Amino acid sequence: MKIAMVGSGYVGLVSGACFADFGHDVVCIDKDQSKIDRLHDGVMPIYEPGLAELVGSNVKAGRLSFTTSLAEGIKDASAIFIAVGTPSRRGDGHADLSFVYAVAKEVGEALANDAVVVTKSTVPVTTGDEVERILREAGAMDRHQVSVVSNPEFLREGAAIGDFKRPDRIVIGAEDDFGREVMREVYRPLFLNESPILFTSRRSAELIKYAANAFLATKITFINEMADLCEKVGANVQDVARGIGSDGRIGPKFLNAGPGYGGSCFPKDTLALLKTAEDYESPVRIVEAVVKTNDHRKRAMGRKVLDALGGMDAARGKKVAMLGVTFKPNTDDMRDSPAIAIAQTLVDAGVQVAAYDPEGMEQAKPLMPEVEMVDSPYTAIEGADAVAIVTEWDAFRALDLARVKELAKAPLMVDLRNIYKPEDVRAAGFEYSSVGRG
Ligand SMILES: NC(=O)c1ccc[n+]([C@@H]2O[C@H](COP(=O)([O-])OP(=O)(O)OC[C@H]3O[C@@H](n4cnc5c(N)ncnc54)[C@H](O)[C@@H]3O)[C@@H](O)[C@H]2O)c1
Repeated sequence: MKIAMVGSGYVGLVSGACFADFGHDVVCIDKDQSKIDRLHDGVMPIYEPGLAELVGSNVKAGRLSFTTSLAEGIKDASAIFIAVGTPSRRGDGHADLSFVYAVAKEVGEALANDAVVVTKSTVPVTTGDEVERILREAGAMDRHQVSVVSNPEFLREGAAIGDFKRPDRIVIGAEDDFGREVMREVYRPLFLNESPILFTSRRSAELIKYAANAFLATKITFINEMADLCEKVGANVQDVARGIGSDGRIGPKFLNAGPGYGGSCFPKDTLALLKTAEDYESPVRIVEAVVKTNDHRKRAMGRKVLDALGGMDAARGKKVAMLGVTFKPNTDDMRDSPAIAIAQTLVDAGVQVAAYDPEGMEQAKPLMPEVEMVDSPYTAIEGADAVAIVTEWDAFRALDLARVKELAKAPLMVDLRNIYKPEDVRAAGFEYSSVGRG
C-alpha cells in the first residue's frame, strides 16, 4: 500500500517511518527543504530515541523516501496523511489551521487517483468538514473517489516509536465505507497485534484527541495543587499519589507533581478546546481552571527557587545552575517548556542562570537568550548558589553529590521533579527543597 505523509516533523516522520516498517511504501513530504536534505543525508532533523535506526533501515529497504514535492509524493497514494503543525493562533488561542488548509488545497489540486485524506494533525472538531469542502472546491471529488478521515495521533515524544507501534488504541473517525476500508488496510499490521481500534464519526474522533489531552492536563494540574497543599500541611505528595493512583478508577500515571505541564501539545490543545467551547457556547470550566492554574504555576516555580535563595533581595546577583530545559526528558522539543518561564522569573530578579540539557540547548538558545548554555551539568554548577533540577533526564538522577558540593558556591538544591530522596541529599550536606514533600 502506498502512503503519503505530508509534514515530516515529530509526528509525520515517526508515523511515516513506522508505517514503512509495517511494510507499506511511504513517502514523507515536507516543504522545508533543509529538513528533506538532512533526511536524504541520513541526518535526523529531530531527536527521538530509535528514530535514526528505524528511518535508516526502511530507507535501505526501499520502503521510505522523502521529497519536497507534494504532487510527486501523493501520486498513487491510497492514503494521504496531513501531519503539519496546528500551533496556537497568535492573539486568540484558536488552533491555527492555515497549514492544514494549505495542504488540503494543494492535495485537492494535485490529486491524480482515488484516495483517503487523513488528518493526523490535532484539529478542532469540524475541521474535517472544512478539509472536505476545500478538496471539493479544488475539484478533487469530481475527478476521484475521495474520503476525509480523522485519525488523531496519541504518541508521546521520547517514546514515540513504541507508542506508535503498540498504541493503547487507534481512533478512526470516518463517514463512509471507503474511508473505513482504506484505514483498516493501513493499520492491518496493528490489528494483528490486537491493538484496539475504535471507529467513530469524524467529529467524535476530532474531539476525542482534545478531550484526552485536556483530561491528562487536568490530572497533572490536580496533583500539582495537591502538592502545594501537602507543603502547607506537612504531607508527602508522592505518598498521596500512590495512595490515590492504586485505585483502578484513578490510575497511577500522570500523578507526578512538578513545575506544570508544557510541550507542543497540552498548552495549545487545552487553549484550543476553550475556544471551541466558547464558539459553541458550551463552557468547559474545569479546563479553564486548569489552563489558568498551570500558567500561574510556571512562574511560581521560579519564585520557589528565589525563596530557596533567601527571597528576591537576597537572590539578586546570585547564580543558579539549571539542569534540564526541555519540557520532558528524551526530547529536544522546547515548545512551551516550563523552563522558559522559570528562567525568565530568575533573570527578571537579577539572577544569573547557567543551563545544561542533553538535547535541548540548540532549540533553547533563541527562547532563553539571557541564559548561558554550557556543555555539562558540572560546568553549570561551578560557582552556583543553587542547583535547580527542571527536567528529569536520567543524567541528573545520579549526580556525584560530593563533586556538586565541591564545585558549587553553596550546597543548595531545588528539585522541581522530585528525583532525589530528601534524606540522601541532606545526608550529603545539602539544603534541599522539592515539590509537595513538606
Ligand atoms: N509532537 C507531538 O508529540 C504530537 C503528538 C500528537 C499529535 N501532535 C499533533 O501533530 C501535528 C504535528 O505536530 P508536530 O509536533 O509533528 O509538528 P512539527 O512542527 O514538528 O512538524 C510539522 C511539519 O510540517 C511541515 N509543513 C508545514 N506546512 C507544510 C506544507 N504545506 N507542506 C508540507 N509540509 C509542511 C513543517 O515544515 C514541519 O516540518 C500537530 O497538530 C500536533 O498537535 C503532536
